[in-house]
Amino acid sequence: MKLKTLLPLLTLPLVLSACSGLSSMNTLDPASSLTADILSLYERITWWAVLLFVAVQGLLIYAVIRFRAKGDETGEPEQVHGNTAMEVTWTILPVVILLNIGIPTVSLIFKSQQPAPEDAVQIHATGKQWWFAFEYPALGITTANEIHVPLGQPIEVRLQSDNVIHSFWVPQLMAKRDMIPGRVNRIVFTPNKVGRYDGQCAEYCGDSHAKMRFQVVVDTPEDFAKWAKEQAAPAVASDEGYKAFEAATCNACHAIKGTAAAMKVGPDLTHVASRAMIGAGWLDNNPENLKKWIHDPASIKPGSKMPKLPLDEAQINSLAAYLQSLK
Ligand code: CUA
Repeated sequence: MKLKTLLPLLTLPLVLSACSGLSSMNTLDPASSLTADILSLYERITWWAVLLFVAVQGLLIYAVIRFRAKGDETGEPEQVHGNTAMEVTWTILPVVILLNIGIPTVSLIFKSQQPAPEDAVQIHATGKQWWFAFEYPALGITTANEIHVPLGQPIEVRLQSDNVIHSFWVPQLMAKRDMIPGRVNRIVFTPNKVGRYDGQCAEYCGDSHAKMRFQVVVDTPEDFAKWAKEQAAPAVASDEGYKAFEAATCNACHAIKGTAAAMKVGPDLTHVASRAMIGAGWLDNNPENLKKWIHDPASIKPGSKMPKLPLDEAQINSLAAYLQSLK
């Protein structure tokens, strides 16, 4: 019996430490004005809940002790009906508490839906199965699964989907917002801490939903300008590498700016080597993982729309070398 009670307690540290592995998906460590507002609302509600719990349990324990049957007491205790002071108190107090929670909640909901200011950086995001396509229309950038944004500047992301419903979420930077086929949702946030933040699709969307991730890098304005300039430029890579790419029919789905490849079925690969991860935030971007991915995508991401192509080792090696050169 004792062990039965203890076991759940013993496993608790394991469960909690599983969360700490994803340190950058921590809503308690906000990195934008929007998530800071959400956290302060969360704290307000939590402290009211703690206070109410202590007050209710305290009264309960007090009543049990104070009004218990003592010594030789028998029969019915004294019966009491109505107490105006108490009834007024337990009506007004909850109303005050609810207003104290409700007014900030509703005002934050409206605040999170405000249109973006004129100078906001515009990003178009499209949910795919199972990766994210990104465009910066004003900067001429097309990329996938990793975006950079400048510190201290408002960012507006237009969210769309051309297949099923996905949900766009970077816990430290923004609230969750759905990507719905046939409509455009928006999320606006202003990052206030430089860093690399993990994002995750937060709406079940098929086989590899759990492996549909992305990263947002908050740069200083100088670093962002440098990144944007590099990303807008066409690919600089050998023609020989491109021949291997074409021979393997990769150009049937992928685009590389500066070459003949222009399809948008799969992620844009113009600067794929500049990204930290491959497979939509799932594997580190290194030659070994790239080869594994090209060899058999579905073994890494079940249901992957990228086919397993009949390529020999030499072909895979030259493809991986070419992709690694696309800085
Ligand atoms: Cu996309 Cu879950």
